[in-house]
Amino acid sequence: MKYHKKINMLIKANKSGGDIPMRKRIVAGNWKMNKTNCEAVEIIKELKDLVNGIDNVGVVIGAPFTVLSDLNKVVNGTNIKLAAQNMYPAANGAYTGEISPEMLKAVGVEYVILGHSERREYFGETNEFVNKKVKFALDNGLKPILCVGEKLEDRESNNTEAVVEDHVVNGLKNITKEEMKNVVIAYEPVWAIGTGKTASPEQAEEVHKFIRNLLVKLYDEETSQGVTIQYGGSMKSSNSKELIGKENIDGGLVGGASLDAKEFAAIIKSAV
Ligand code: 13P
Repeated sequence: MKYHKKINMLIKANKSGGDIPMRKRIVAGNWKMNKTNCEAVEIIKELKDLVNGIDNVGVVIGAPFTVLSDLNKVVNGTNIKLAAQNMYPAANGAYTGEISPEMLKAVGVEYVILGHSERREYFGETNEFVNKKVKFALDNGLKPILCVGEKLEDRESNNTEAVVEDHVVNGLKNITKEEMKNVVIAYEPVWAIGTGKTASPEQAEEVHKFIRNLLVKLYDEETSQGVTIQYGGSMKSSNSKELIGKENIDGGLVGGASLDAKEFAAIIKSAV
């Protein structure tokens, strides 16, 4: 029974029948502008023990720049990977206040969250700029987590798909099929971020499926099936299992609930 269940899951994730690698579920925390060094190290030490041994779900923490180096010392050799929350698309130079991929890699960073709605909203980031960052991250060995998602007014005016399509198509401009193996997409409806209002599993799955189909059009079935598409927006341990249980929802990008090690570990375990 257990064996058949496993095989069915493999078939489900590999519906086109070809030699397609099963995509990995990834649960990433986005700490945003929270936690000093001491606080961050304390959480990660607790988390490390709670998620020890989990190898079929990727565990990622997106922490502020200032704590990455200290966290790297703690997560080294564990199953926890580090993400930055932003990056500038240049190798070095006169860009006051910015940070380069090399600097991030030097402190053990593997992923970078790009195009988050807060950066689009408060820092005026356009699709074009986000795309430049995605390309530069990939060219320099970082894996982008590209955030896409509609605002409440877009949803209310039936423009969800148009907005998501715009974010996906323009965010991935000039990104090759091969490079897509290192890209994660996070669908984050802006109206669900930090509001306690989660998209229902059905609402989220509808958009995830739309993104998956869009990737087939932009690339091909095999590439599309390989891309991890996370859900983000008020994800907690009380709703994560149902969300991640949907066919096209491959994990989460978790804000508030990732600031508590026990709660975040419970979300990760719900994806196992
Ligand atoms: P919340 O989980 O706090 O709603 O934030 C989601 C988010 O923005 C993750 O990037």
